Amino acid sequence: MRVLVTGGAGFIGSEIVRTLVSAGHEAVVLDALLPSAHGAGAAVPPGAGSGFVVADVRDREAVDRALCGIDAVCHQAAMVGLGKDFADAPDYVGCNDLGTAVLLAAMAGAGVRNLVLAGSMVVYGEGRYDCPLHGPVRPGPRAEADLAEGRFEPRCPSCGTELAPGLVGEDAPVDPRNVYATTKLAQEHLASSWARATGGSAVSLRYHNVYGPGMPRDTPYAGVASFFRSALARGEAPRVFEDGGQRRDFVHVRDVAAANAVALEAVVGRGPGTFTAYNTGSGQPHTIGEMAAALASAHGGPAPVVTGEYRLGDVRHVTADSRRLRDELGWKPAVGFAEGMARFAAAPLREAAGVGAG
Ligand SMILES: NC(=O)c1ccc[n+]([C@@H]2O[C@H](COP(=O)([O-])OP(=O)(O)OC[C@H]3O[C@@H](n4cnc5c(N)ncnc54)[C@H](O)[C@@H]3O)[C@@H](O)[C@H]2O)c1
Ligand SMILES: [Zn+2]
Repeated sequence: MRVLVTGGAGFIGSEIVRTLVSAGHEAVVLDALLPSAHGAGAAVPPGAGSGFVVADVRDREAVDRALCGIDAVCHQAAMVGLGKDFADAPDYVGCNDLGTAVLLAAMAGAGVRNLVLAGSMVVYGEGRYDCPLHGPVRPGPRAEADLAEGRFEPRCPSCGTELAPGLVGEDAPVDPRNVYATTKLAQEHLASSWARATGGSAVSLRYHNVYGPGMPRDTPYAGVASFFRSALARGEAPRVFEDGGQRRDFVHVRDVAAANAVALEAVVGRGPGTFTAYNTGSGQPHTIGEMAAALASAHGGPAPVVTGEYRLGDVRHVTADSRRLRDELGWKPAVGFAEGMARFAAAPLREAAGVGAG
């Protein structure tokens, strides 16, 4: 299979390219080498050859050329993270949603009918919760007064009792809570409309917290594992926000790349007009505090400091139920938490904008 991997120079995209090539597929990369992800003056990796196109997904002509002879598209290109402030919104919407629309229009024109999209668990907002009295409930955003007082657990909207977190399934209602999350959900809606309109078939892999070698060094666009790993590289303690009890599903980049490979094989030959979302998590939730401690101990660095700081808009817990991906596509994560974090503690990070080596 010949696959166009957009964002194929990025953290996850480059691992997908390695996985596809080692499975005997052909991969063509289209990546704008965004300075926010790669630093200023990033260059095409040596030896990449003609299978590496430096272009923006919003550049229709470049996308048309890159789609020549392609069987399936694996769409990873996006601006990631929370960004600096709301002023970033047009860039997020441009890269992620206009970019996806241009790509899908070009695919429609070229007759390319198979798409795997990098989705995200951020579409769910707060995960799933249960109240002992009221059963499953959906808490709204946490009040700043509660966070400032150190009351971090979401409460039942009806009775105020602290809620117990559960595993979120794909059919849970969506509730994007920031610009990035909104753009990731819009990408799915665009993919679904494209599938219906063109008879294509699309899969969205809703990644949970992906970590592993090649993660960008700490920038406002990187994830929490990268922040902790970057602090340790500077000889500093990881600073853990809230009380460290936030639950997440940390999934290794190699497992995410393997999920893309099985999804690409499955999407080819799926019924026309279909769109399916799959949670892509390890299935083993851990707290942010546990992650910081595992990294610090494997790195041999200072123990984490729990600061009680908070960011408005952060969700308390969100952990996946990834059974659909296991059951329907036969995917199984291979890298466990302890092993993956130990390897990550020793692996190099990728240089990003405005950050020195170290
Ligand atoms: N890292 C995570 O934990 C995580 C979690 C959920 C979803 N995702 C999704 O996975 C995908 C890959 O993320 P990543 O962590 O590898 O980030 P990354 O920043 O390392 O990679 C993204 C790549 O896309 C490229 N890109 C961005 N906008 C582009 C555009 N308009 N045209 C062409 N190229 C463009 C960048 O140059 C970069 O190489 C994204 O779609 C992201 O939303 C990541
Ligand atoms: Zn209640």
